[in-house]
Formats: sequence, structure tokens, C-alpha cells
Amino acid sequence: MRPIYDVERLREDFPILAMTVYGKPLVYLDNAASAQKPKAVLDRLHHAYTAEYANVHRGLHYLANAATEAYEGAREKVRAFLNASRPEEIIFTRNATEAVNLVAYTFGRERIKAGDEIVLSIMEHHSNIVPWHFLRERQGAVIKWAPVDDDGNFLIDEFEKLLTPRTRMVAITHMSNMLGTIVPVKEVVRLAHARGIPVLIDGAQGAVHLDVDVQDIDCDFYVFTGHKLYGPTGIGVLYGKHAHLAAMPPFNGGGEMIREVFEDRITYGEPPHKFEAGTPSIVQAIGLGAAIDYVSSIGKARIRAHEQELGRYAHERLREINSLRIFGTAREKGAIVSFEIKGTHPHDVATIIDRSGVAVRAGTHCVMPLLSRFGVTATCRASFALYNTKSEVDRLAEALIKAQEFFA
Ligand SMILES: Cc1ncc(COP(=O)(O)O)c(C=O)c1O
Repeated sequence: MRPIYDVERLREDFPILAMTVYGKPLVYLDNAASAQKPKAVLDRLHHAYTAEYANVHRGLHYLANAATEAYEGAREKVRAFLNASRPEEIIFTRNATEAVNLVAYTFGRERIKAGDEIVLSIMEHHSNIVPWHFLRERQGAVIKWAPVDDDGNFLIDEFEKLLTPRTRMVAITHMSNMLGTIVPVKEVVRLAHARGIPVLIDGAQGAVHLDVDVQDIDCDFYVFTGHKLYGPTGIGVLYGKHAHLAAMPPFNGGGEMIREVFEDRITYGEPPHKFEAGTPSIVQAIGLGAAIDYVSSIGKARIRAHEQELGRYAHERLREINSLRIFGTAREKGAIVSFEIKGTHPHDVATIIDRSGVAVRAGTHCVMPLLSRFGVTATCRASFALYNTKSEVDRLAEALIKAQEFFA
């Protein structure tokens, strides 16, 4: 682990952060959508393509073995990162979205019939809503929504009231991508398991900003996505308890996931291969392994402390701006600040502050039910990463003050 948290030094690891846009230094605050990549990841991708590239698993030659070793090595890094008990519990997918779909289409479809209930939170990203809506449309399942209060606090007592003898699944975010609210997932799992209900956790934000120990949480499934964790696009992870994975039918069919294929029958391979049909995202998985090494070399707890301080400071600075409405002030929250300038469309605000070099996201953030809960159709969102600084928060505040004057 590095001795002190030297953010200026860490910024040098990310070549893109040295960019200027419109003649101004880039302030990248769109990390909840996708994070920038450190040189360690970029170099690892380059090495994988230039020195150890071939298809994995089925080869007998040197490069096939090198690629397989690196790919399976990445699986082991993910296992350790989540503290899963065995590498077979780690399935590589394209992204978090595909991981949720995998569970809904296999585990979900087998268990959930007409009238059965699925409990989500109102904070879910569409990727943890739509696959369950498919089960509503196709199987007649009923979706129930766990609420948040006006500050965005997750209401665990209200959640518990939704669990009934018909509940077959809980699928819930670890950390909201719009409000930043952190859900007490261990307690959620305890309450669900007490009634025999399995739990999937969407860790697309949680895996980046929070410590994750899937054995301690005791969740049945945990999903995350590589590109938000400083890794490449095109790679995601599904963790599943081995007993579930072994019992689940496969998702996609094709090469790699079978044991034998005959004219009149097929037999399937074991997890994880049963769920990794076709050529996987080999180099992307290797890149994700490098991203995990990078994050671990800094230390997640120290990154979290840095980000929490940035989040606190951002709230302080943005609260000073009269016309700003902030969404999400939960007691437990990560470094994400959603806001609007009253009377102004968030797209206009984001476009204006972009001219000051400040990149934020504006729109629905794929959380339409949550936006409805707060009576809006869009917000702006500034989301922080390990490389952001307080002076970048100041640049955001200055750009917003200018925008406020512009729209007044
Ligand atoms: C909470 C949450 N879940 C799921 C996703 C989907 O991630 P991906 O698009 O990489 O599948 C996102 C991405 O914004 C997210 O923030």
C-alpha cells in the first residue's frame, strides 16, 4: 500500500486527466457513468494484445496457454476482490446489465411464476429493473418497490414490510447512482434470508466505492461492471453462490459452455464455463484484473475516505448556490451529488458548464422511477473518483454560479 494519499501524484497515473477542453483543464466529474483508466490498465491491455494474445482454454500452444493463464488469473483477482470462496463463483459477463439479465433469465425464470413477487428498491438503475419487468410481462410476476424518504434514506422497515410468502427474489442496489445512498445490504440479506428469499445486489457503484465481502454480506448474487472500476468496457462480473450456479440452467448457448454435443442431446459444462458461451472478453478481463490490482495498491478504505471528504465538500459548496436543489442527503451516502438549477433544464446546465471544462452528466441516469419519486424528469449529477480534488469541486461551483447568472 502507498504511504500517503497524494492525489496529485495519483492523477499522473491517468493520462487523460492532463487534457484541456475549450482551453481549460478538464474537470471530469462523470465517474458514476464511467471512470477514466490508469496507465497500469492501459499498459496491461497493450501487453495482453502484443505479448500474450490468443483464444483461451482450447489451445495447446504457448500463446493460448499464456492468454488462458492471464484470463483465469483475472478471475482469481476478482474472487479475492469480492472475497468469494472459490473462483468458479465468478462469471465474466459483458457488463453489470448482462449479469442481471443472466440471473433473471435463468434463476429468476425457473423460480418466479404468475403472482410471485420481486422486491426492488425505487433507486434501481434500469438494468436492475427491466430484466425483472420481463418476468412481470412474461411470467405474470408482481414487482414491489422499497421506498426512500425525502432525503434519499433507504427505509429498511418499509422494505421488510414488503416481504411476503409470495416474495421470490430481492434485487437491490448497493449504492444509488443518482442519490449516492448506500443500502445496508447485509441487513437486507438477513431479513430476506430469514424468509428463504434470495438476494441479488447490484454493485455497479458499490464495488467501486465500498468494501465488498460477499461471504460476509451472504448475498446470493453480486454484480458489477469493469469500466466504472477504472477497467475496460466490455467486461462485467456476476458472483453467484456455487450451489445456485450449479443448479441454474445456462443462459447463452454455444462453444465453451457445453461438455458434449450430439445430434439429439447436449450436456453442459460446470460453472463458470457453463455461463461463458463463446469467446469471452479475454483482454478486457485481464484489464479488469489490472484495475483491481491498481485500486488495491492504493487501498479501498483510503480511496473511500478521500471520496467522502470530496462529497462532503461538494455538498458544502453547492449548498451555497441559491438556485440549486440537491437530491439526496442520506446519512449513508457515497460521493455523488445530483442537483438542478431551479427553472432550468439539466441538459442546459451541463452544456453551459462543459464550456468551463467541467464534465457532469445530465438526464435520467437510467433511474426513471426514482426521478418520478422526486417529481422531476432529469437532474445534473457530479460523481467523484479517486483522482478528483477539492479544487475541482471549486471549479464546479464556480461554473454553476456562472450558469445561474446566465439563466437568471
Ligand atoms: C447502479 C448501476 N447499476 C447498473 C449499471 C449498469 O452498468 P453497465 O451499463 O456497465 O451494465 C449502472 C451504470 O450506470 C449503475 O450505475
